[in-house]
Amino acid sequence: MERLTAEHASAVLAFEQENRDFFRYSVPDRGEEYFTPDGFAERHRALLDEQADGRCHFHVLVNGWGRIVGRVNLVDVAGGSAEIGYRIAEADTRQGLARAAVEEVCRLAAASYGLSALTAVSSLDNEASRALLARTGFTEAGERRVDGEKVMAYRRAL
Ligand SMILES: CC(C)(COP(=O)(O)OP(=O)(O)OC[C@H]1O[C@@H](n2cnc3c(N)ncnc32)[C@H](O)[C@@H]1OP(=O)(O)O)[C@@H](O)C(=O)NCCC(=O)NCCS
Repeated sequence: MERLTAEHASAVLAFEQENRDFFRYSVPDRGEEYFTPDGFAERHRALLDEQADGRCHFHVLVNGWGRIVGRVNLVDVAGGSAEIGYRIAEADTRQGLARAAVEEVCRLAAASYGLSALTAVSSLDNEASRALLARTGFTEAGERRVDGEKVMAYRRAL
């Protein structure tokens, strides 16, 4: 797992393009503009600015061939807490990658980022995400509505 840098840009774009159809089953699509060279470059720069300000911490999972196979992000860092989000390449799912990466980000969040709790949200019907959160020590914190959709909120003390 590596912290996101400017050098990851083309590999991140390839990862997002190759898995676009898989991701949009479970999470909102990023939109056409994101997948254009200029749109992506601007978005990648904006993420790195947010990370430099300490508002977010982005991580990529890089395999032995230098390809990105997953992302685990902490966003909305505030008051000792942040929200975790993750996505794994379709071809690499169900091998424990997300579990290992979430555990590693929880460790980093406490040891390096000074956080004491993480939150997460998952669609009620996203069985993989909910199994992952249960397996990595997150507990349910009640249903919410996000953009009109019912989701389950989760929390984990670090
Ligand atoms: C959710 C996601 C990150 C899981 O990644 P993964 O690497 O396959 O997860 P792991 O192999 O570490 O498995 C973690 C748990 O999820 C379960 N799981 C994984 N895929 C599953 C599926 N399709 N259906 C049901 N359970 C599933 C595993 O069995 C495991 O649970 P267990 O330890 O109790 O057996 C991946 O499916 C993904 O990227 N989905 C699309 C994006 C997304 O939904 N992001 C989350 C938005 S809230």
